[in-house]
Amino acid sequence: MFPETSPASGYNERKTQRQFMGQVLAASAASRIEIVHDVGSLRARLAQWRRAGETIGLVPTMGALHAGHISLVREAKRHATRTMMSIFVNPTQFAPSEDFGAYPRSLEADAAKFASAEGDLVFAPAIGEIYPPGFATLLSIGGPATAGLEDRFRPAHFPGVATIVAKLLNQCRPDIAIFGEKDYQQLKVVTRMARDLDFETKIIGVPTVREADGLALSSRNVYLSAKERAVAPSLFAALRRCVHDINDGVIIETALAAARKTVAAAGFVTDYIEARHAESLAPVTSREEWPVRLLAAATLGKTRLIDNIAV
Ligand code: PAF
Repeated sequence: MFPETSPASGYNERKTQRQFMGQVLAASAASRIEIVHDVGSLRARLAQWRRAGETIGLVPTMGALHAGHISLVREAKRHATRTMMSIFVNPTQFAPSEDFGAYPRSLEADAAKFASAEGDLVFAPAIGEIYPPGFATLLSIGGPATAGLEDRFRPAHFPGVATIVAKLLNQCRPDIAIFGEKDYQQLKVVTRMARDLDFETKIIGVPTVREADGLALSSRNVYLSAKERAVAPSLFAALRRCVHDINDGVIIETALAAARKTVAAAGFVTDYIEARHAESLAPVTSREEWPVRLLAAATLGKTRLIDNIAV
């Protein structure tokens, strides 16, 4: 169930020898950033900041940063005097059949982007720092984590996400932590988990950043071929049409059926396109069960896209 700390585990593992505080990566003169790889150094730096009266904002990521991540950094800076980003491709949230090995890893470029956004510190732990030998704990979660959306297709995903986020909240003890609405079910899972386990960190969601044609930014968009990239925005277009129809009085199930048909015709294989209560993620059948959110997951070629929109 748990990852071995093998040298094949990717970038984070290859950095185990570089566990010292205050490594400064000079990606360019303008983009100097402190990168720490171990929890001891991280806690020492954060304690210094707290003693100086600073507040701490955490942006948890798996790297491969794009403009969506930078919008999370901007939001963190609105709420805290110091902003840190964790960059860790978390193996426990990937099924064996998924893209853990292929997931893009680009620490130097990510650190430079974070520095340009005026972030303060990157925490890029080695895998053994997060999952030491003998690690045997995984959170068991319900509520939004078992809503029958992502969890139906990726049953191991949210226990892995909840576990890594709980660890990061413990390691960093941030005042706030920022998550994108792009992974809407994840945002609800993390919010529930933080409340249930009495973390003092305030969880803040940030709207999805999109390309001009509506495609939600995602680190996985790089997997799309040119032809697929041209088709990909039709998923969000179908969701928007669906919202329009529901607000025009079309029965929710009828509007959803039309969206599923459009998306299939565009070449997607759909996992789900559903209307849910925006907080509990419980199924809804009428717009009166407000607030309502549409959530979708569909695969185009080899790339699985997820998206969502408020009704
Ligand atoms: O959304 C992500 O990038 C990841 O699921 C997260 C929250 C960083 C946990 O690994």
